[in-house]
Amino acid sequence: MDKVAIIGLGLIGGSLAKAIRKRGLFRQVVGYDARETDLNTGLESGIIDVAAKSAFDAAQGADLVVLAVPVRAVESVLTSIRGALSPSTVITDVGSVKGSFVEAISAVFGEIPPTVVPGHPIAGSEKSGVMAANDELFVNHRVILTPLENTCPVSIEKVRTVWEGCGATVLEMSVAHHDEVLAATSHLPHLIAFSLVDTLAGEEDNREIFRYAAGGFRDFTRIASSDPIMWRDIFVANKDATLKVLDHFSRDLGRLRTAIEEGDSTTLLGVFTRAKVARDHFTKILSGQAYSKTMTSKNVVFKAVPNGKVQGEIRVPGDKSISHRSIMLGALADGVTEVEGFLEGEDSLATLQAFRDMGVVIEGPNRGKVIIHGAGIDGLKAPPGPLYLGNSGTAMRLFAGILAGQKFDTVLTGDESLSKRPMGRVADPLRKMGAIVETEEGGRPPMRIKGGAQLKAIDYELPMASAQVKSCLLLAGLYAEGETSVTEPAPTRDHTERMLNGFGYPVRTVGAKASVTGGGRLTAGKIDVPADISSAAFFLVAASITPGADLTLRHVGMNPTRVGVINILRQMGGDIEVFNEQNVGGEPVADLRVRYAELTGIQIPEDQVPLAIDEFPVLFIAAVCAKGETRLTGAEELRVKESDRIQVMADGLANVGVKTEVLPDGIVIQGSQIEGGIVDSHGDHRIAMAFTVASLRAKSDIIIRDCANVATSFPGFVSLAQSVGINVSVDAG
Ligand code: S3P
Repeated sequence: MDKVAIIGLGLIGGSLAKAIRKRGLFRQVVGYDARETDLNTGLESGIIDVAAKSAFDAAQGADLVVLAVPVRAVESVLTSIRGALSPSTVITDVGSVKGSFVEAISAVFGEIPPTVVPGHPIAGSEKSGVMAANDELFVNHRVILTPLENTCPVSIEKVRTVWEGCGATVLEMSVAHHDEVLAATSHLPHLIAFSLVDTLAGEEDNREIFRYAAGGFRDFTRIASSDPIMWRDIFVANKDATLKVLDHFSRDLGRLRTAIEEGDSTTLLGVFTRAKVARDHFTKILSGQAYSKTMTSKNVVFKAVPNGKVQGEIRVPGDKSISHRSIMLGALADGVTEVEGFLEGEDSLATLQAFRDMGVVIEGPNRGKVIIHGAGIDGLKAPPGPLYLGNSGTAMRLFAGILAGQKFDTVLTGDESLSKRPMGRVADPLRKMGAIVETEEGGRPPMRIKGGAQLKAIDYELPMASAQVKSCLLLAGLYAEGETSVTEPAPTRDHTERMLNGFGYPVRTVGAKASVTGGGRLTAGKIDVPADISSAAFFLVAASITPGADLTLRHVGMNPTRVGVINILRQMGGDIEVFNEQNVGGEPVADLRVRYAELTGIQIPEDQVPLAIDEFPVLFIAAVCAKGETRLTGAEELRVKESDRIQVMADGLANVGVKTEVLPDGIVIQGSQIEGGIVDSHGDHRIAMAFTVASLRAKSDIIIRDCANVATSFPGFVSLAQSVGINVSVDAG
C-alpha cells in the first residue's frame, strides 16, 4: 500500500504511525495534527514521513485514512476531508465509542460509505500526546472492528492487515455490542477512578490522605490521570451504555453500604470472595490457563523414565469424594462449617464454585482450609447461568439430587468427557420421586432440572453398585415428603451417610438399605478431610512393584468401603503395614508403610470391585508386574468412568508391549515385561497417573499424552512423584 494518512497525532495516532513506519506497512506515512508543535515533533522524531498542512492535504491521494482525533472532533474533521477522498479510500478510526463515530459518518456523508471500517484498539496508557508514542503499543493487544452491513470485505481486510502488521489481534463485533462491552470494562472503571480521586482530593485533610495512600490507591486510581477531555467526550458519546452499567454498579454499591451499616458481614464476605475468585480467574484467562481451558487442553504430556525409586514419607492431597460432600452439606447446613484438608483439585473446586454461584458464601480454599457459611436447607439461590461441573461425574450426580428439590431451575453442564457419561441412572429415579429432569439423548448431559417440584419419597433398588446414585437419591430425600430408601446390590462408599449423620441429619442403615426422612435440617460442624486413598493407590502400587522401595503414606482415609486396593494388593502378596489407626470426624484414618514385594496374579474377588472402583487403572499395572495371570470380572462400571477404563488401559498397555484379553466386564492380564512407548490417557487422570507408575518397571521411556486432567483429582502429582524418586516430568508443549 502506498500512502496512509494519520489525522491526529496523540498517543494512539502517534503510536500507530510509528508502528506502521517501523514495519514498512506503507510507502509513505503522512500525518496531520491541529497542534502545530505536536505535528513538528512527529516529523522531527521520525514518527511520520510527511507533515501535511491540513487534514484535507493529508487525506488527498491516501489509500487509508485513520482518524485518531477525539470522539467529538470526528464530524468536523470528516467534513473538512470529504472533498479529498476518492471512492476507494478506506477510512477507519480508533475511537472508544463506535455508535457516535457511525452517527458522525452518516451526518457528513448522508449514508455510510462501504469503505468505512470503524475500529478501536484496546491499548493505551494514562499518558497522552505524541511524545508518548510507542511503536510496540499494539503488540499482543486486541483491536475491535465494528463493520456495518454494507461495509465492503476488501476494506475490512485492508484495515485488519494494518493492525495485524502492528502486532495486534483483530476481532469483529457489532457497534452496539462494542459500546456496551467497553462501557463496562473501560468507561465505568475510568469514571470511578476519576470520581474517587476527586472526592478524596476534596476532603479537607486531603494531604494526609494522599501522603498515606499506598499501593492500593495508586493501582486503583492510575487511570484517573488519563486525558480529561478525551474522557469527557467518551461519556457524552456513550451515554446510554454507560448509564446502564453505572446504574447497575450504583445499586450494588448501595447494597454494600447497607451491609456495612447493618454489620452484615456475610453479605460483605460474599461479595468479596466472589469478586476475588472472579478476578483470579480473570488473571488466569489472561495468561491462557483458564479453568475451563485446562480441562480440555490436550497438550500436557508426561514423560516417565525408567529406573525411578520409591522412598520416603508423603501425604497425598485430600479425599475427592469427601471434599465434594463437605461443600455440599456445609452449604445446606445452618451455621459455619470449617473444612481442613480440602482437595484443591479442579473437580472439587467446580463444586465449590457452583455453590458460590448459588449465593453461598465460601472462604478459601487456602492451603486446604475452607469456611462455608451455610445457607440452610432452603437457602440456595438461582445461579446466574448453567452450573459448569468440569470433569466431575460425582458433582453432576450429587447436584442433581440437591437441585431436584429447589424452587429454581438449573442447567448442569460439563467438559467433553462428562458430556458423554450416563445420567439416566440418576434422572430416572429422580423422576420417580416427582422431579422434572431433562437430559440429552441417551441420558447424557446437560441436565436441565425444573424447580418447584414437590418430591415424594421412594424405596429404590439400585440396578448398579453406585455411591453416586445412592448419594443423589439420599440428598433428594432431604427435600422429599416421607422416607426415601435406597438399597444397593453391593456396598459402595458411604461418605454421604456418614457426613449426614455428622451434620445431625439421621440416616438409617439396615443391611444394604439406607434411608432418610425429608424435612429436617443440617447443623454445621468441623470436617477433617483425610488423604485420598484413591490418590495414595498410585504410590501403594509404585512401592509394591519397585525393588528396594519403602514408602510411608500419612493420614490416609481407611473407610472400609474404600480399602479394596489394599485388600487386593495384599492378596497379590503386597507388603502393606497399617498403623496409627484413628477415627477423625466419623472417618477412619491411618498411616501406611509399603515395601517392595513380589506380586502374584489373582482372580480379583467381585465383592472387592466397588471397594476399589477407582483404583483399577493402577491395579492393572500391578497385575502386569505380578507373576502369572490376574483376572478381573464384574467391573463393567469401569467402562463409564472418565474414560472406558478397560479399553483405554488395554490400548495403553498394548502400546507399551503388554498383551491383555479384554472382557465385556473386565480384563485378563498376564505378568509380563513393560517396554516403553506412547500412551494416550484420553483425558482420564487416573490412566495418566497409572502409566507414570508403570515406568518404574519399564525398559524405556513412557510418553503419556493428554494429562491436563490429573489436576482434577491430584494437583501436585508430578512433584510429589518426583519427591519420592519417580522420574516423571511435564512437557506442556
Ligand atoms: C464416587 C463414587 C464412584 C467413584 C467416583 C466417586 C463418589 O462412582 O468412581 O470417583 O464420590 O460417590 P460410582 O458411584 O458411580 O461408582
